[in-house]
Amino acid sequence: MGDIQLRNITTQSELTPLCSIAAESWLVDPLFNWVVPGLHEYPDDFLTLWKYILKTEFRSTGRHIIVAECPGANGYAAVGFAVWERSSAPTNMEERFSGRTFKNRILLLGLKFWIACQYIARICHKTFSLSRLENLTEELDRVRGPQPIEKWHLQFLGVSPRFQRRGVGKELLQWGIDKADQEHTPIYLEATSFGQPLYESFGFVPMDWMTLDDGRISQAVMRREPTTVIRRSNARMQDIHETCV
Ligand SMILES: CC(C)(COP(=O)(O)OP(=O)(O)OC[C@H]1O[C@@H](n2cnc3c(N)ncnc32)[C@H](O)[C@@H]1OP(=O)(O)O)[C@@H](O)C(=O)NCCC(=O)NCCS
Repeated sequence: MGDIQLRNITTQSELTPLCSIAAESWLVDPLFNWVVPGLHEYPDDFLTLWKYILKTEFRSTGRHIIVAECPGANGYAAVGFAVWERSSAPTNMEERFSGRTFKNRILLLGLKFWIACQYIARICHKTFSLSRLENLTEELDRVRGPQPIEKWHLQFLGVSPRFQRRGVGKELLQWGIDKADQEHTPIYLEATSFGQPLYESFGFVPMDWMTLDDGRISQAVMRREPTTVIRRSNARMQDIHETCV
């Protein structure tokens, strides 16, 4: 598909179409169906969850929310997005608490608090499973703990089902690969079964498995080492990528 335009999200109001894309894209994802068992019965709750997740990502440091837009009847419209995190050595304050996973812990704690509030306010109809969210938090801590501190982390990659298999996912992935290669940094992610073939085709390698629900749900923990980018001083810059060993 030609004419895919990527840009950074810079205001919170631009997140609205992305929440709808996320709620559509992850509707059949086994992990979300396990943690949010009521998502089919209460799709509005699932959409609300995504509003919370993306708002939290937007406000967090080191995050880059990239939207892919394609031309439609009313101009360019969002068809997919990626949330990239550039993580680096923790600040002194973070170090004093619990090190590199501190930021993730705070985000997940916030999510649990938010879900608990939804229960109390009876806004959500018991859509979420707090105990499963707890299991997920522990498993994420386990697989993320040994990862390098300096890295790019692909938090989310979602493409509207109507626009899948047209190259949108590739473009959003390439955005982060370019950044990581420029900074000579690895990329880390946890892959759904939908994403894994795409990541493998870009040189990501499974390092571990994240398993939940007594092994019924598993996601590959994948990493891609950086490639060297040699810039030639031609009139038009040309990149030559050489795989590092
Ligand atoms: C994974 C996802 C982002 C891919 O987006 P996309 O725009 O369809 O991807 P692309 O069109 O760029 O596909 C690139 C390649 O990925 C692979 N791929 C994508 N979807 C695939 C599928 N359903 N089955 C097998 N391979 C697939 C193919 O190799 C494809 O290349 P090809 O079409 O030339 O064969 C999209 O399917 C999605 O949003 N899924 C739901 C959310 C999700 O699981 N996100 C991944 C989180 S880790």
